[in-house]
Amino acid sequence: MEIKFGKGVENMDYKIQTVRGFEKVSPKNIDYAKGIDRNNDGILDYNEIKNYLIKNDDLKVVYTRDGSKIVNEGQIIREFTDFLADKPIEAQSFIRDYGQIVESMKKLAEKYPDKVSLEVIGKTFEGRDLVVMKISTSNKEGKKSLMITGLHHAREWATGEAALNVAEKLLSEYDSNEVVKNLLDNTDLYIFPVVNPDGYEYSLKKSRWWRKNRKVFEKGVGVDLNRNYYTPKDPTLYRQPNDKPDSTWDDYGASDEVNSDTYRGPYGASEEEIKALEKFVNDKKIQTVIDIHSYGNMILFPWGYTSDPTQWDTIYKEVGNEMNGVVGKKYRVMQSINLYPTTGASQDYHHAEGRFTYTFEIGNSFFPSSKKELEQLKQEVLDMTKVFLKNLVNGKIPTNKYEVIQS
Ligand code: ARG
Ligand code: ZN
Repeated sequence: MEIKFGKGVENMDYKIQTVRGFEKVSPKNIDYAKGIDRNNDGILDYNEIKNYLIKNDDLKVVYTRDGSKIVNEGQIIREFTDFLADKPIEAQSFIRDYGQIVESMKKLAEKYPDKVSLEVIGKTFEGRDLVVMKISTSNKEGKKSLMITGLHHAREWATGEAALNVAEKLLSEYDSNEVVKNLLDNTDLYIFPVVNPDGYEYSLKKSRWWRKNRKVFEKGVGVDLNRNYYTPKDPTLYRQPNDKPDSTWDDYGASDEVNSDTYRGPYGASEEEIKALEKFVNDKKIQTVIDIHSYGNMILFPWGYTSDPTQWDTIYKEVGNEMNGVVGKKYRVMQSINLYPTTGASQDYHHAEGRFTYTFEIGNSFFPSSKKELEQLKQEVLDMTKVFLKNLVNGKIPTNKYEVIQS
């Protein structure tokens, strides 16, 4: 059966990006395409794709390819977005926008002046402050440290709320809950709820499927901030040895095409958001990181750019399983690359630098459809973070980066 595009564009191949990576629709995987082609007439029309985008868990992007020319992916996404824009976006009423999130952070700093401080670590392309909150409740010797990041990806609306909620809940429980008090007293906790404020505002208010930041280039807009990490300790985690900057055909785990949703940027740590974050974790000697994304109910551990094991695989699995246990075992605990390969991603950077780190993929969609759904996700992240902190404080989670004296 031949697959055709509904609105007059005929005889094109389709490339479909799912959580498993890119798949080309060809006679080989025609069954997959049929899943979208609900009328089974061999023609994909916008309605079928739209319904699939809404209902199917794993379809992220569809784009067409005409011979050697990739039809602008961003444009296709915009067309879908315009299509979807008719639907009221209920989520906005219970999801705080960037201004409101920063306002909430300021209120917490006012309410708990001896425990909470804020730091502006940089500015975005559009001039927004990048704000990190620090929670420090004691001057104990040998405190551990954890940073939680959210909203690298603009459309992952629940992740900023979930990160900030950890701060809000732990602070409110501090006085009445011995366990929480003990966790906080022995940890410096850093919360960076919105790594990508420009993209987040754009997704909330203009075009909700937007993923990247809003940096303007000659040929397009936006870098995927979770493909932009770079460490001189291992440049291959940003760009594989066979992957050339001037070719978009040997890409592995990230793209060099500006209009791709996974554009890695012109060079490693080119983006202010990532440059500032990397400097901050190093300056503050932060030992561990949890990076929150959506969606798919997964607890991911490094690596994402190679299937080599890490020296901490056993601990990653054990603590991962323990975290999964407190949320009803609904998550899958797995090495990132088994989802799909990525280069330049947060966890590979941190792990390569010696930090113990997870990526959470929370929820079943980018856009929580009710306040109840959002609250559930916030609770899951809070519960898993408590398990993480317990294992950080009791020494199960390694923190050797800033403990071992290096020769
Ligand atoms: N979904 C996130 C992203 O695409 C996290 C990826 C985690 N790493 C991986 N290799 N799958 O950036
Ligand atoms: Zn993401």
